[in-house]
Amino acid sequence: MSDVLVTCFSRTGSTELAARALAESLGADLDLIQSPDSYTGPGGLVRGLWQTLTRRGPPVETARDPADYALVLVGTPVWAGQPTPPVRSYLARYGRRIRALAPFCVSASGQAYPGVFQAMERLAGLPPRATLSLAENDVRSGASADRIRQFAISLRRGRDGVA
Ligand SMILES: Cc1cc2nc3c(=O)[nH]c(=O)nc-3n(C[C@H](O)[C@H](O)[C@H](O)COP(=O)(O)O)c2cc1C
Repeated sequence: MSDVLVTCFSRTGSTELAARALAESLGADLDLIQSPDSYTGPGGLVRGLWQTLTRRGPPVETARDPADYALVLVGTPVWAGQPTPPVRSYLARYGRRIRALAPFCVSASGQAYPGVFQAMERLAGLPPRATLSLAENDVRSGASADRIRQFAISLRRGRDGVA
């Protein structure tokens, strides 16, 4: 078992792709945030948007306990400038068990959304060690591979106490 965990929710796969690349670079364990609420199809999209705008979260399940790790990377797609409802639920339920947090997000624009990381910090109750914002197209094409590797290297340095 690694001392770093990468976990995420992903509706259409781009955040999961980024999570897998980060986990590989870090030698980290990978987990996926699962929910019985479906976000597929038009009904799922409406549910997702409504939960996002009303700051509600569905029930969620995970396979791994974040308290077992020295560092936890939590990834979310950006929905309406916010973290997705399953990630909101995950952090509300397990956030206080996270010792060090590094949130990352994937969006169509790739821009940094302050609202995403502020909400994740508030829910987890601790400031992020570092954050990463990626564009969906770059994740899918592989154009963000270098940024993902650099982010992993900087996290490892910080974790190992190397400047
Ligand atoms: C309901 C909804 C809201 C979204 N809002 C934004 C947004 O505010 N800004 C943005 O750049 N992309 C937005 N997107 C696009 C997603 O962030 C983007 O497609 C992301 O890569 C999806 O991640 P996934 O493939 O892991 O599900 C939105 C998508 C959905 C479904």
